Amino acid sequence: MRKEIVLSGIRPTGYLHLGNYFGAMVNYLKMQHDYECYFFVANWHSLNTHPDTSELKQGVYRVIAEYLACGIDPNKACLYVQSEIPEIAELYLYLNTLAYKGELEKTTSFKEKARLQPNNINLGLLSYAVLQAADILIHRAKLVPVGKDQEQHLEMARNFAQRFNQRYGEVFPEPVAFNYHQALVKIQSLDGQGKMSKSEHQNNTIFLNDSDEAIKKKISRAKTDSGPEIENQELPDYIKNLFTIMEQVSTPETYQYFLEKYQKSSKNNCLIKYGEFKHQLAQDLIQFLTPIREQTNEILSHENHIRDIIKLGTEKARLSAKNTLELVKESMLLKY
Ligand code: ADP
Ligand code: TRP
Repeated sequence: MRKEIVLSGIRPTGYLHLGNYFGAMVNYLKMQHDYECYFFVANWHSLNTHPDTSELKQGVYRVIAEYLACGIDPNKACLYVQSEIPEIAELYLYLNTLAYKGELEKTTSFKEKARLQPNNINLGLLSYAVLQAADILIHRAKLVPVGKDQEQHLEMARNFAQRFNQRYGEVFPEPVAFNYHQALVKIQSLDGQGKMSKSEHQNNTIFLNDSDEAIKKKISRAKTDSGPEIENQELPDYIKNLFTIMEQVSTPETYQYFLEKYQKSSKNNCLIKYGEFKHQLAQDLIQFLTPIREQTNEILSHENHIRDIIKLGTEKARLSAKNTLELVKESMLLKY
């Protein structure tokens, strides 16, 4: 039986960070063994918000290197760059006729991005979700590992797939957001303001390629308070976030040790020492991230190798994309 098809993408708009890693990459790493996986760099998507292409190529190579350094195996998963697959653009054109202006204007990500760039509310930004649907449907993918922020886009992709199937005949499965864990992990920014992100809150986001010094500095400045007032006090979001990170990168014993100290602390008996807690967290993060950083830099120093990997992925992805487009054109009676 053919394995289920998985697809996900990352925009090359900056360095990958802990949120990308624990929100998305950990799922990719596991899925590559269980499913037929397509992972790509969404460089067309970045043009809507980052029109200057002078650093785009470097950004694309970096995301490929980061995928590889984190453990994506290009012989297991198909790794490619969006703009190498022209079939996506053709499917996007057909899907555009099934998407309504009103629903696109209501998309949260459109409203958010339009607010951030009032002088560049371009058509690509408006139809961002249609292009994302084309990315997914071009391989007739069913499972899409993404963080919580992408749920609305997935719902729209399902709507476009449904409309296509109703109008022209059954071609597409309805894709769903996928995660191995019950709750999607969300890593907050270290100042407690919003989420870690490639392009915002940069001083409070830990990037996979941060130096040891940068990690220590960012963790030591992370928001804390004067300690719990009473035993078993509920953790405020910014402290909980530090524990969430610790749970991912430290041993279970270390995590339990500090959590218990926090839970047993009260106003007159503060057992948790934030300095000690942060020191341990920084050390464990450094240990976790150093191999990824070194590996990324090593891969980046061999551009030919990166190009070969892109070529390998392009061939496989185009084969799958062409197959889907054949079905699409047949059902739309566009074969002449
Ligand atoms: P960014 O928002 O940093 O530009 P992307 O939009 O390219 O990152 O997201 C790539 C993947 O990482 C998506 O699946 C997204 O849901 C996930 N992701 C991004 N930021 C976080 C975060 N802070 N916590 C958890 N997951 C995240
Ligand atoms: N919109 C996604 C993000 O901002 C990136 C993306 C583009 C994507 N196309 C995709 C994710 C298709 C999953 C599937 O994170």
